[in-house]
Amino acid sequence: MENRENWGSKIGFIMAAAGSAVGLGNIWKFPYTAGSNGGGAFVIIYLVFVALIGFSVMLTEFAVGRRNNLAAVGAFKSVDKRWTFAGVLGVLSGFLIMGFYPVVGGWALAYVFKVFGGLLTAKEAIGDVFGGFITNPIQPLMWMLAYLLLNVIIVSKGISSGIEKAGKVLMPVLFAILILISVKGLTLPNAMEGVKFLFKPDFSKVTGATVLAALGQAFFSLSLGMGCMITYGSYLNKEENLAQNAAIVTAMDTGVALLAGLAMFPAMFSFGMEPAAGPGLVFVVVPSLFAEMGGAGMFFAALFFVALTVAALTSSVSLLEVVVAYLIDEKKFDRVKAVLVSASVMALMSILASLSLGGLGPTIFGKGAFDVFDLLTDKIFLAIGGMLLCIFAGWRLDKEELRAEITNEGKLQFGLFEFWYALVKYIIPVTVFLVAFSGIKSGFDSGVGGIMVLGVVIIGVFAAISKKL
Ligand code: TRP
Repeated sequence: MENRENWGSKIGFIMAAAGSAVGLGNIWKFPYTAGSNGGGAFVIIYLVFVALIGFSVMLTEFAVGRRNNLAAVGAFKSVDKRWTFAGVLGVLSGFLIMGFYPVVGGWALAYVFKVFGGLLTAKEAIGDVFGGFITNPIQPLMWMLAYLLLNVIIVSKGISSGIEKAGKVLMPVLFAILILISVKGLTLPNAMEGVKFLFKPDFSKVTGATVLAALGQAFFSLSLGMGCMITYGSYLNKEENLAQNAAIVTAMDTGVALLAGLAMFPAMFSFGMEPAAGPGLVFVVVPSLFAEMGGAGMFFAALFFVALTVAALTSSVSLLEVVVAYLIDEKKFDRVKAVLVSASVMALMSILASLSLGGLGPTIFGKGAFDVFDLLTDKIFLAIGGMLLCIFAGWRLDKEELRAEITNEGKLQFGLFEFWYALVKYIIPVTVFLVAFSGIKSGFDSGVGGIMVLGVVIIGVFAAISKKL
């Protein structure tokens, strides 16, 4: 594989990996998930999972990807054919996430234009506008397709020219606007209530569902558990310090999530909105906040949604890339064909997901396509995918080979190696198993247990037919 594409530069890799991690997961999903799981306690559990599990799994993905110089499926398969299913499960997760992610990406894109179309002038109506928009059968589909098309264009061009450039330019802009929004929000009356909600834990309300939500959020936000970082790692050159890269990406991603929380909750409490408001949160809070600022508000709101769209893009291209890399490496497609075939399937899934928000289309256990794709990946596939990778690394790969990979054949120091190895081999698999088990159990109270069990069954089927994959 000498002619495998490589990242243009170190900073290019960090920006691309951080670009994959930072996305709708941080700015759209994190605030509303924290909000509907009670705030502070959820946030603390999430942070513990990020530090212990997220960082370690990311390092494992980088190491496995670079060691084998192959994308997700190949990295497993080249070591042991029986493990192919773990890689293919990741490709399936990629499809499922891309079955709803472009819908939300499309909302972000649409909002760039809605801001100029008078969205901010009637402040009281901002919530209704959002509700009306996403439940409309046609409008969001157009935006979703436009968003998906942008992905197709970027990924067709290949990694270093497309993904890298997109990431480098707009990430700092996003960061700056989030700071601006936080500052603005914190100066509103009653803002401290929001800060308290976000950071003051009340552990008495924690259930198995809360803990699983925190674990799922950690995996989703860091782009873990589906081979995304394996694929990115496979493009990484041998001189890079993997642990340092994993630490930087983890820190950046978590920083942005916390900043997004700080941008939303003080303003929400000040406006008297419900913290458990759900998926519309950023699309309602941010315009409401900027509505207070007159003409400049319109400009900043538009800039925010541009930056959100770009952050979403640098994430979704990484999802598409996993699927595309699989089709190129394993099924010998050329890049353009691989992109077109996978994006077409994703478009169909996203159409179902978008329609489901207006109450149209099929349901499983009472949930529409949007929720099913989200629940399957966020609550089951990513965590189990991460667990499988850890079992693979800890029990199937050779410890000294991993040490060599992480220390660049002994050229670097990694003082935490033994600790990391113990986490990967024992602690993470056991923790993920227990958290998933108790999460599924308490899922039955909220009516989503059936979908989670379905997810486990799918994984079982994949494992059983692994030789054919
Ligand atoms: N992490 C991205 C976000 O927060 C989404 C994402 C990109 C992802 N690649 C992934 C999630 C791989 C899970 C696995 O928006």
